[in-house]
Amino acid sequence: MLSRRQALRTAAVLTAAPALLIRSQAQTAVPVMPPTGPHKLPRLGYAFNALEPHIDTQTMEIHHGKHHATYVSNLNKALVDYPDLQALSVEELLKNLDKVPEKIRTAVRNNGGGHYNHTLFWQCLSNEGGTGPEGTLAEALGHLFKDKEEREEAFLKAGLGQFGSGWVWISVNKDKTLKLETTPNQDSPLLAGRQPLLGVDVWEHAYYLKYQNRRVDYIKAIYNCLNWKFLQKRWEKLAA
Ligand SMILES: [Fe+2]
Repeated sequence: MLSRRQALRTAAVLTAAPALLIRSQAQTAVPVMPPTGPHKLPRLGYAFNALEPHIDTQTMEIHHGKHHATYVSNLNKALVDYPDLQALSVEELLKNLDKVPEKIRTAVRNNGGGHYNHTLFWQCLSNEGGTGPEGTLAEALGHLFKDKEEREEAFLKAGLGQFGSGWVWISVNKDKTLKLETTPNQDSPLLAGRQPLLGVDVWEHAYYLKYQNRRVDYIKAIYNCLNWKFLQKRWEKLAA
């Protein structure tokens, strides 16, 4: 038979059990900090509301602080047992995917791609990036499109033609000519041996809050906030 003290102790444990369970569930519900690792979420070079009204503040906050952050976190997680790979830049990882162990190759492709693509994307945007290409970039784009209208129309057509999630790019071929292309998911032109100059995210998470399913309006809005100053500098570097 239980003594009175034992009975009270048992009752106390039984009564406390649901509370402990709830506390345990609550603790697991707390967002887990990204694992420490070599890859970090870069800061935006501008305020979250800088691209209003074209790209809304909430979309920028969620896109950068949640979506991009998750790619960084998952890339670090994938690399946790591979110190040699941790020493490589994300660009080096993507250019050498065939050397990444098969076990983590898809994770590196998707999350490394997500990290690399978004890092470039933020830099391609600005509220003070100028009104269009100038100098050598204007000249190079002129070989691909006869004028601004043709360029914007072709870019829009490519973006609308990308089925599902993906990206639209103007990339630099090995011979330093430019190419308009799309990739699915988080694939980068780096995987095909090209350097991306300009990348525009056409995943729904990039526009759904403000534009819902109207990808066409989102891509047209992006034209108003391209950072041509950054693109000119990047072009000079890639074309050198
Ligand atoms: Fe995105």
